[in-house]
Amino acid sequence: MSDKFIITPNGALTGDVHISGAKNAVLPVLAATLLTGQPCTVQNVPDLSDVEAMCGLLESLGAGTSFDASKGNLTVCAENLNTHEAAYEWVGKLRASFLIIGPMLARLGKAKIPLPGGCAIGSRPVDLHLKGLAAMGAEIEHTHGFICASAPKLRGAKIYLDFPSVGATESIMMAAALAEGQTIMENCAVEPEIVDLANFLNAAGADIRGAGTDTVKINGTRALRGVTHAVIPDRIEAGTFMVAAALTRGDIHLTNVMADHLKPVTAKLKEVNVNVMETESGLRVFHDPTMEVIATDIKTMPFPGFPTDMQAFFMSLMATAAGTSIITETVFENRFMQVGELKRMGAEIKIESRSAVIEGVPKLAGAQVTASDLRAGAGLMLAALNADGVTELGGVSHIDRGYCALEARLNRLGADIQRIS
Ligand code: EPZ
Repeated sequence: MSDKFIITPNGALTGDVHISGAKNAVLPVLAATLLTGQPCTVQNVPDLSDVEAMCGLLESLGAGTSFDASKGNLTVCAENLNTHEAAYEWVGKLRASFLIIGPMLARLGKAKIPLPGGCAIGSRPVDLHLKGLAAMGAEIEHTHGFICASAPKLRGAKIYLDFPSVGATESIMMAAALAEGQTIMENCAVEPEIVDLANFLNAAGADIRGAGTDTVKINGTRALRGVTHAVIPDRIEAGTFMVAAALTRGDIHLTNVMADHLKPVTAKLKEVNVNVMETESGLRVFHDPTMEVIATDIKTMPFPGFPTDMQAFFMSLMATAAGTSIITETVFENRFMQVGELKRMGAEIKIESRSAVIEGVPKLAGAQVTASDLRAGAGLMLAALNADGVTELGGVSHIDRGYCALEARLNRLGADIQRIS
């Protein structure tokens, strides 16, 4: 049974918070460690259940991992991989486990990976990953819920992605790093986590140009060497704390952030009268007591548009903003799971196909609610910080997947959240 949070509103959150390394940068980088037989050390790694699961998966393939969570240093040595098959159990634990297919194909010439099922936010197909790998010469079969792929030698190819999928861009980039010849990816994802993965691979001897733009060229190399790489800060975790400051009308200083990665979030917060100021060591987010938080419209888009991962946080903010907001979710087809729970807290929200129409109310009311997925759960946690009365939030294991000790860090800023195991 998953833990619960008992959240008692406790006024404005104020103080400093140090942002962790990015979960969505660490997971592809850990998959990429399979591309070399030499040890790699990843730094700035957050202590998350998703990281633990990825380490378990790597070890099930024969790699060795050692994680010093206190320092955030995780070393992986994939010298002796003893199987090309990933057990079914991993895909239930971690969707990102599918990211090992590219490295396994490049390193071993074959891979048998469970086909990821859908999850709370949508069907989440992997067709673009497979289309890219097939273009590089991989034979791909889908049998009994597994993807069996084989390619004695991957060849560089020209690949146009139908959608700038983050995962597909990462899979193809990793496979292409060791393919014969040049791969050109067009209309690929440009998220900061893609750039971070390319930086890791180039440090290991790959030849990748253009990461962060929609056209990336990869000249395959024969082998990669072990490297030490510090991952970028987690822009989604940063956005969580920024909205916590806005929702509680507080004043929070975030350190270990890259302001450029947060531009779409900063722009939206300013649009609704929340101040965001760059400091020499990070970002300060504070609410001007003479101004009220007003409604605005949001449309989630691939980077550098407004991030889909922050949609739930802003829905909680707009739930008590002055006016009517429209939030349109264009990236995932089922990412309004938090709406039902917010309505139980008194929010006025109507879903019209891919959009949610939110009529701001003065206050939400504490209630018993349940997290359906990672970011919906974080969004409900934020809404509870400023509600009238106590909220009991179930399904906290979803939140532990993507945040390290979120409640303790919010409590250090003045929140009152109790974890009940
Ligand atoms: C990554 O997921 C992130 N996860 C997600 O964060 C994030 O929401 C998403 O990118 C978008 O930014 C990790 O990096 C581990 P996509 P990913 O492939 O790679 C469709 C979180 O909360 N699509 O860009 O799965 C797909 O159905 C998580 O931290 C295909 O159609 O995202 C979706 O509608 C949630 N075919 C859209 O593209 C494919 O082959 C975006 O998916 C692949 C994707």
